[in-house]
Amino acid sequence: MNTITLIEKLQQETVLAKDEYIYLIENCSEKDREILAAKAREIRESYYHKDVYIRGLIEFTNYCKNNCYYCGIRAKNRNAKRYRLQPKEILECVEEGYLLGFRTFVLQGGEDNAYSDKEIGHIILEIKKRHSDCAVTLSVGERERDVYLYWHNCGADRYLLRHETASKDHYEKLHPEDLFFERRMQCLWDLKEIGYQTGAGFMVGSPFQTAGHLAADLLFLKDLNPHMVGIGPFIAQKDSPFAQYVDGTLEQTLLLLSLIRLTLPKVLLPATTALGTIHPQGRELGILAGANVVMPNLSPASVREKYQLYDNKICTGEESAQGLQSLAGRIEAIGYHIVTARGDYAF
Ligand code: 5AD
Repeated sequence: MNTITLIEKLQQETVLAKDEYIYLIENCSEKDREILAAKAREIRESYYHKDVYIRGLIEFTNYCKNNCYYCGIRAKNRNAKRYRLQPKEILECVEEGYLLGFRTFVLQGGEDNAYSDKEIGHIILEIKKRHSDCAVTLSVGERERDVYLYWHNCGADRYLLRHETASKDHYEKLHPEDLFFERRMQCLWDLKEIGYQTGAGFMVGSPFQTAGHLAADLLFLKDLNPHMVGIGPFIAQKDSPFAQYVDGTLEQTLLLLSLIRLTLPKVLLPATTALGTIHPQGRELGILAGANVVMPNLSPASVREKYQLYDNKICTGEESAQGLQSLAGRIEAIGYHIVTARGDYAF
């Protein structure tokens, strides 16, 4: 095997065998990563040109009933300062975002039973009533299929649920016993089948992750064929059981972004906040590696710093919706541009 032939094969066939993905992940030189990024940009531009889609992220609750070992808003973290936005406050974020040019709103939160399914349904209905030209994305974790269906009937268009890892053995090292690999995977299949534009994803460099696990993630993504994939580097959170583990790297995250773009050519692929956190130009580099989405934060400034999934999460500058002008400038500087559009999957 050699990296250049594998890169060419991936470009042509949009999938590799597991051992080939492993070989590429383990043996890519800097030069190879640049070649991959160039091919990733080429395919991305054939569907989405130079457009970068923006999503207004509303982190409406940082209460969560789960205890994922990596996460800063896990239930047992007594140091997390908890907050919940009222439906009225969520709608205010939407209004502000609409004026800024956002046409997709992402309602993201921990698995927080304080909001009933109906309450969430009403928020979706209200957003769609006020702004029928906008897409609503939900990201509130594992729910029953009929709840997903109900919210879809309320008008929710998209759903983000990272699978976190496609390997059961690895999943069990990242999560306590009351969280089940099979259940999470089932949620993703349900979401797709109901008709959501569905997003999966994982952390790069999470504890115990091997090239074999990453290759399994890529093959799982090829199989699920989701509309969106969210990836970012693992970043240790000081109060979590994984406080002492090393962070994922910029280089490996960029490599995975390019591999995902070549594996799922039309995928909506964000350059995530976590990538912007580990490197000052992380998100621009993400776009140059094949990403085509950014998700500025629309949450009220007063709660933004409390949504700390990991340490040092950026929350005051260009990643905020109010910093959109300067973010736009940075994206122009690398030859791309932000568009005011729903930014649906190129079906
Ligand atoms: N580092 C990076 N990403 C994290 N997430 C949670 N904790 C961390 C962390 N310490 C990611 C998970 C989750 C998403 C909401 O944030 O992938 O699905």
